[in-house]
Amino acid sequence: MTGPLENPFAPGAGPMAGRAVLVTGAGQNGELPGVGHATARLVAAQGARVAVLDRDAAAAGRTVERITADGGRAVPVVADVTTDPACGAAVARAAGLLGGLDGLVNNVAAGDRAGLFDVTPERFDELLRINLTSAWQVTRHAVPLLPPGSSIVNVSSVGVRMRGPGMVYCVAKAGLENLTEGAATTLGPQGIRVNCVQVGAIWGSFAAANMSEDLRGARRDSTALKTEGTAWDVAAAVAFLLGAHARWISGHTLAVEGGPPHRFPPGPPVRSVAGADDARWSVGAGTAGAAPGDGGAR
Ligand SMILES: NC(=O)c1ccc[n+]([C@@H]2O[C@H](COP(=O)([O-])OP(=O)(O)OC[C@H]3O[C@@H](n4cnc5c(N)ncnc54)[C@H](O)[C@@H]3O)[C@@H](O)[C@H]2O)c1
Repeated sequence: MTGPLENPFAPGAGPMAGRAVLVTGAGQNGELPGVGHATARLVAAQGARVAVLDRDAAAAGRTVERITADGGRAVPVVADVTTDPACGAAVARAAGLLGGLDGLVNNVAAGDRAGLFDVTPERFDELLRINLTSAWQVTRHAVPLLPPGSSIVNVSSVGVRMRGPGMVYCVAKAGLENLTEGAATTLGPQGIRVNCVQVGAIWGSFAAANMSEDLRGARRDSTALKTEGTAWDVAAAVAFLLGAHARWISGHTLAVEGGPPHRFPPGPPVRSVAGADDARWSVGAGTAGAAPGDGGAR
């Protein structure tokens, strides 16, 4: 029995030791690491057994090979998560190969920039299926297998918060964030945590294929830290939320984006209310007791 003064997070086996984690979209294509690949490798390096799910068998094999070469334990699970029966079979196979399941990362997505009304109804459905329904499907099959203490992490995008021409991808990701909160509330009494990581401007294969150097610079400049992130930065946040150190965090969406981006165009300097010389902000101007922001108009 440990007392309240005992540090429950003291170094020992570590927050990921003994865990069995399924990561969807964890295969490796091309030169740059994907978020799923980096997550699978990071949690395996921290002691988890990992099921590397991808529809591309060769990509899944590359991630498994890398984890094994690094001394970790991983198995490939080849499946396309856009259909419900395939998700059911993939979850059962992952749990069978790993000897159970207590971690899930829903990472599969199609980084499609299709405008809201530029798509056919069929493509709209397809994008929702890849970016939202797949996570619901995998989760619903995993839940009956997850013991108390399990953790689920969904991977979203800062695109959800951007204002501007709408994209179907962002609609789906907004749904994924809402699913995170709903699932956290629904599954909390079973001891299952559900969180989300919002990915910012990382340098990965999607960016490399779609971005000019100018756009890359502007994107870097729009972060507080003036740098790009990588899939490893995202994986570190996913691993934290998956692991035992986050045992009292659920229903949360964590933005991994290099600090808050500029959300508003430049304006006059910010002044404190106390030092303001603008009469509208002074208590006593107009009606006594007027609150800042109401213009003294009561
Ligand atoms: N890379 C970015 O710039 C960026 C930015 C914001 C958000 N994100 C989010 O991060 C996550 C990972 O993105 P990424 O760019 O690292 O991915 P990626 O494209 O590098 O890798 C995705 C993997 O998923 C697999 N996959 C795709 N559809 C599948 C399906 N239906 N069934 C099974 N496997 C499938 C692919 O084969 C691929 O190996 C996504 O959720 C994405 O929305 C990425």
